[in-house]
Parts: sequence; structure tokens; C-alpha cells
Amino acid sequence: MRVQVAIVGSGPAGLFLGQILARAGIETVIVEQRSKEYVLGRIRAGVLEQGTVDILDQLGAGRRMHEQGLVHEGIELCFDGQRHRIDLKHLSGGKTVMVYGQTEVTHDLMDAREAAGYASIYEAEDVRIHDFDTDRPRVTYRKDGAEHVIDCDFIAGCDGFHGVSRASVPASAIQTCEKIYPFGWLGILSDTPPVSDELIYSNHVRGFALCSMRSPTRSRYYVQCSLEDKVEAWSDQRFWDELRSRLDERAADTLVTGPSIEKSIAPLRSFVAEPMRFGRLFLAGDAAHIVPPTGAKGLNLAVSDVRYLSDALIRYYGGDRQGIETYSARCLERVWKAVRFSWWMTMLLHKFPEEGEFGQKIQHADLAYLVGSQAASASLAENYVGLPFEA
Ligand code: FAD
Ligand code: DHB
Repeated sequence: MRVQVAIVGSGPAGLFLGQILARAGIETVIVEQRSKEYVLGRIRAGVLEQGTVDILDQLGAGRRMHEQGLVHEGIELCFDGQRHRIDLKHLSGGKTVMVYGQTEVTHDLMDAREAAGYASIYEAEDVRIHDFDTDRPRVTYRKDGAEHVIDCDFIAGCDGFHGVSRASVPASAIQTCEKIYPFGWLGILSDTPPVSDELIYSNHVRGFALCSMRSPTRSRYYVQCSLEDKVEAWSDQRFWDELRSRLDERAADTLVTGPSIEKSIAPLRSFVAEPMRFGRLFLAGDAAHIVPPTGAKGLNLAVSDVRYLSDALIRYYGGDRQGIETYSARCLERVWKAVRFSWWMTMLLHKFPEEGEFGQKIQHADLAYLVGSQAASASLAENYVGLPFEA
């Protein structure tokens, strides 16, 4: 098989890229190691920035999002037993976010790709990338016992943090920067009405908690947990008791509990690989960088990379190489701002016993300053709804 762009990975980065390029008349194939059902079963992000919403609309895949997604104009910060509303819309000059699950975005993009008849290969085994430092890169994989080769002009490494793309780059050509946080998030999904109309981010002496949602009848909740914790040790009852203990009185009293339909633990890390282009290989999304989920930036950052990458490739096929040359620098400028914001939100809201009393007092002062200062609240709002894109 020969295509112009071979895309490795069918997560948000790969699917958004595939759809944008296909609509620009650029031939793509998506090669994914897992089954479609597995990809759709991974419960992850829930908050879409306006820029992400706009791109889904431009791709003609936004109908279900507008029917079922929830537009949020604010978030609540909870500390010292009190909730404080941050009016995102007012503070950001009219911007909002959309609460709509990553699984649904993935679903809508897979449907759009299938309807348009573009190629995707699922359950591809032993996916490898080759010769991306030459003009003739290739992707190989095995499927149903047969070996396959894809010849292409470019490879887009959209295969997440554990993918093969970044791992195929020689160590001498790549620099990585990482911070591992000493805790994880235990998340559950339940068919219960959300405890509040808006998301609640709670800083509590027992640890961080987040109340989110997927619909008026489906909730998504997270609590900070130990890295040694095992999901099996957390019965639903234990989870609900712990969550309730980390909320303000009103939320604790009104929290509706029920059986969990998904429960998982995610570690938290900040990670950036630089550069994001190696000859004819481009990294995009989690393949190049990871942020802790506190700022709700991971998926949105994957989409922002794809915006720059699709622009670069469309320009290349129009005879202009400039976009390709500047891809990495343009992405990283925005990536590092999201890395900073996600790190700051994480430091602000989690329990860090090793930071001692000084750390606690600073955290408290930061929170009090934040909710008491229009300038500080506006800075949070501006970052949360998504920083503007470079022209
Ligand atoms: P992925 O979604 O990881 O997709 C990569 C794909 O590549 C996968 O399907 C994988 O199976 C495939 N793959 C891997 N290796 C190979 C291989 N060798 N060959 C072929 N295919 C391969 N982000 C937000 O913006 N907002 C949020 O509210 C938010 N909340 C989150 C909550 C949690 C609990 C977690 C864990 C994450 C959250 N995120 C959030 C982050 C977000 O989910 C990720 O940043 C996003 O999925 C990145 O998309 P991606 O396409 O780059 O990578
Ligand atoms: C969700 C996840 C986040 O990381 C976040 O900051 C907000 C919401 C969610 O899964 O709904």
C-alpha cells in the first residue's frame, strides 16, 4: 500500500489528523494496534476547549456533541469547606468549555472516517516505523498472520505515551524532560446525577477530589490516591465515603451514590520530548508530551498539535515546506504553556505531605489570592478555556 501520510494510532490525535487531511484531499491510513472497541472503552478526558469544539464542527462531526455535550461557563474551587466559583465566560471575554467525553469524540470521528470510506487498520500487530530519516519512510505491521508494508511520504506518530514512534527515535536525537508526581487519580464513572451543575475541584487535607460529569444522569469523579493503591482495594462504598469526606457540606449532603460502571487508577506525570519532528516523522499528542489531568489539557493539546501538523502538511503539498520546518517550534511554544498550567493546577490542589507546613501555607495563600483577585482568576480562566493559537 502507498499513501501520502501514514498515521500510527487511532486516539484523538490520529483521528483528528486523519479527518483534517482527508478533507484536504491528502491520502492517509490509520494503523492502530488495539481493536476499535478497546479504544472506545478507555474512559479518559471530559473537557473540550472552544478550539477543539470548533475543529470538530469544521470536520462536520459536531452534531452529537452539540446535542449531548454540556456547555460550562464556570468551575468551582473548593477549599476550607467553602466553594468559590470561577466565572470562566466572564473572565475570558466570553469563552466557555464543552463537557463531552473523549470516548464520544473518538466515536464521532471514527464514524465520520468510516462514512467517508478512509482506511483504518485495527488490531495491527508489531507495528514498526522505518527510514523516516530518508525520503522513503515505511510503516510495517502484521495482521492475520500476514506481513504488510505501507510506503508513504510522512509518518505521523500519534500513538500515545507508550507508542512505538517516539521509541524509534535514536536517543541522541531527542531530549526529554519529566516530572513524576507522588500520587495518582482513582476515577469512577456512575449512572448517578452529578452532584453539581459545574465541575468542583477540591483541595482537602485528605487529598484532592474532582467532581465531573458526562451527562445529567452520568457522573465522573476522581480522588487523589497513593501510587501503591490497587483498584481492587477500593470498593464503591469506600470510594463514595472518601469522596464525600473531601467535599463541602452541601455537596457531601447532596451527593447521589450508586454502583460504579468503571473504576481505574491513573498516575500523574509531566513529560515533554523535544523536538517533535525527526526528518519525515512527526510526533503529536501524548506521543510527544504528557500533562497531569488536573488542567484538562491532554486531549486539547493533542488537537492543538494536529492543527499545526495538518497546516504544515497541507502547505507542503501546496509547494511550501515552511510549515514542516517550523512544526516542532510552533507546537512546543503552546505545549510548554499547557505544561506550566497543568503543573500549577496540580501543585495548587493536591496534598503534598513532603512539602511540610510551609508548602501548605503557600498553597493556601495561592488559593486565597486566586479567588480574591480578578487578575489571578482571569489568568486561570484564560488558561482553562484554552490559550489562543498562533496565527
Ligand atoms: P492516545 O489517546 O493515547 O491514543 C494513542 C493511540 O495509539 C491508542 O489508541 C493506542 O492504542 C495506539 N497505539 C499505541 N501504541 C501503538 C503502536 N505501537 N502501534 C499502533 N498504535 C499504537 N485531556 C483533556 O484534554 N481533558 C481532560 O479532561 C482529560 N482528562 C483526563 C483524565 C484521565 C483520567 C486521563 C488518564 C487523561 C485525561 N486527559 C484529559 C488526557 C487525554 O486523555 C490524552 O491526552 C489523550 O488521550 C491524548 O490523545 P492521543 O491521541 O495523543 O493519545
Ligand atoms: C475530567 C478530567 C479532568 O482531568 C478534568 O480536569 C476535568 C474533567 C473528566 O474526566 O471529566
